[in-house]
Amino acid sequence: MQRASRLAPLLLPEPRDNVKQSDKIFVAGHRGLVGSALVRRLLALGFDNLVLRTRDELDLEDIASVRAFFEAERPNHVFLAAARVGGIFANNTYPADFIHDNLLVQISVIEAARATNVDKMLFLGSSCIYPKFSEQPIREEALLTGELEPTNEAYAVAKIAGIIMCRSYNRQHGTRFMSVMPTNLYGEGDNFERTGSHVLPALMRRFHDAKLAGDREVVVWGTGTPRREFLHVDDMADASIHLMRVWAEPSPDGSIVGGPNAINEIVNVGYGDDIPIGELAKMVKETVGYQGTLAFDTTKPDGTPRKLLDSTRLHSTGWSPKVSLREGLARTYAWFLENHDEARLG
Ligand SMILES: NC(=O)c1ccc[n+]([C@@H]2O[C@H](COP(=O)([O-])OP(=O)(O)OC[C@H]3O[C@@H](n4cnc5c(N)ncnc54)[C@H](OP(=O)(O)O)[C@@H]3O)[C@@H](O)[C@H]2O)c1
Repeated sequence: MQRASRLAPLLLPEPRDNVKQSDKIFVAGHRGLVGSALVRRLLALGFDNLVLRTRDELDLEDIASVRAFFEAERPNHVFLAAARVGGIFANNTYPADFIHDNLLVQISVIEAARATNVDKMLFLGSSCIYPKFSEQPIREEALLTGELEPTNEAYAVAKIAGIIMCRSYNRQHGTRFMSVMPTNLYGEGDNFERTGSHVLPALMRRFHDAKLAGDREVVVWGTGTPRREFLHVDDMADASIHLMRVWAEPSPDGSIVGGPNAINEIVNVGYGDDIPIGELAKMVKETVGYQGTLAFDTTKPDGTPRKLLDSTRLHSTGWSPKVSLREGLARTYAWFLENHDEARLG
């Protein structure tokens, strides 16, 4: 009996890894936070047949140009990491731009990928697609079950449209377009602009500026108690490539990774743990080496008390994050100091 069960796996087919190193891979948005990390990781793994275009070379909102590009290049696989992205201020101030630009990029890339028989595509969504009052940690099933956070509703609706487009194309055209929902990301190449950035790089910039200016105090909005989850972008890139390779493929026991309908499902990509914003601010302060005081303006709004993704689905495929928050912060700040001239600091 024991002998038979030990031999059994040898009779099953090898897991299919249909993303070959020689395949042509288009990374859309390769100069952004996620796109640049994807390029670094793909190259490190030996995937060096990459097709990359800057916005000046190819405007992804231009449907005809995108179609012509796909017809000329015929990529085997696509990572769709191009989007108009921003923090609360940008989302709240320019909602029309957020919905317009993101819908156009998605429509042009998804349709061109179908028309040119792209084998696999991974579309990057965002955790803000989930209802504002989702049960924590947020499971993928929460999609379309409640009201969205009003400040980034336009962005979230565009992303939801992207997910439903991928799902609908899979159903109608038999494509293999996957959607991943990353938690808050940070890392080398981040956006440190004063008004356009997310909370972690914004804090880093403020402590850095305060250190240089010799300010005695840095004030953070709110009580510092809301909890948020952060994933280093290298982990995000690694998880994305891992999912592109295994998702919806047969595993060694013959079952389909992600279940029989895997291709129509979405996958959360999180760190698996969250921390209070106040604690994050303290860690960033230490990383930057700011000697002044950290204060909280409790008259300012806190936002959602908690936002943590349930990443069980991803972790069940054998992937887990490698970069701790402390290490990630140190790497991000080292990058910020070394690349001060090229960093997004507007
Ligand atoms: N950062 C996060 O915390 C986070 C969290 C969850 C999900 N995500 C998702 O991850 C994806 C990538 O985000 P990111 O943080 O890497 O953003 P990012 O750093 O702003 O990068 C986005 C990239 O897309 C490019 N792009 C945008 N519109 C384009 C167009 N019309 N034509 C050509 N290129 C265009 C940008 O080019 P330019 O530089 O020329 O503008 C930029 O290089 C997005 O879908 C986002 O929703 C990010």
